[in-house]
Amino acid sequence: MSLSFRSLGEENLEEFLTWENLCFPGEEWTKKMIQTHLEFHAAFGIGNQDIQCYALVCETPWEIEIFRIATLPNFRKLGLAKQLLENLFVKFPNKEFFLEVKESNEPALKLYLSVGFNELERRKKYYPDGSTAVLMKRKPIE
Ligand SMILES: CC(C)(COP(=O)(O)OP(=O)(O)OC[C@H]1O[C@@H](n2cnc3c(N)ncnc32)[C@H](O)[C@@H]1OP(=O)(O)O)[C@@H](O)C(=O)NCCC(=O)NCCS
Repeated sequence: MSLSFRSLGEENLEEFLTWENLCFPGEEWTKKMIQTHLEFHAAFGIGNQDIQCYALVCETPWEIEIFRIATLPNFRKLGLAKQLLENLFVKFPNKEFFLEVKESNEPALKLYLSVGFNELERRKKYYPDGSTAVLMKRKPIE
């Protein structure tokens, strides 16, 4: 599979709605949330012709926060999320990366540990469903 990494934007809004429904059933972002994100922040994807894995990120002068990353269900466990993250580390080489993830989300936790994130702290009852968040950080490679 020949993959390309690319920036995504408001022209992809309808696709984002489909992807969110597939990847976060019951917790999908609304059209308004995605639209606002795309207006003020950034999004990236990876795939062959179509996007199969995407990330919504926020860049500040010091850091990158990953708000969301997901791979479409039929394309999981193929290394796509790992490749997308590695492309982001190359694109933003001097920045610290931060994210938060539900402690029950084992695939995501393992993914983040596999690309150099470390656990910073846990916050109980962080999510609306009462679950605990794991806050993670990745330092730039020196
Ligand atoms: C988490 C998620 C993004 C991983 O995407 P992916 O493209 O399947 O991940 P990759 O194939 O790149 O996997 C990279 C590493 O992550 C870990 N991993 C990924 N899926 C895993 C699973 N189901 N079980 C255990 N480890 C897993 C492994 O360490 C894997 O490396 P390995 O294959 O060499 O063992 C995907 O499962 C997903 O979209 N989940 C739903 C949305 C979500 O929860 N997003 C994260 C919170 S915002």
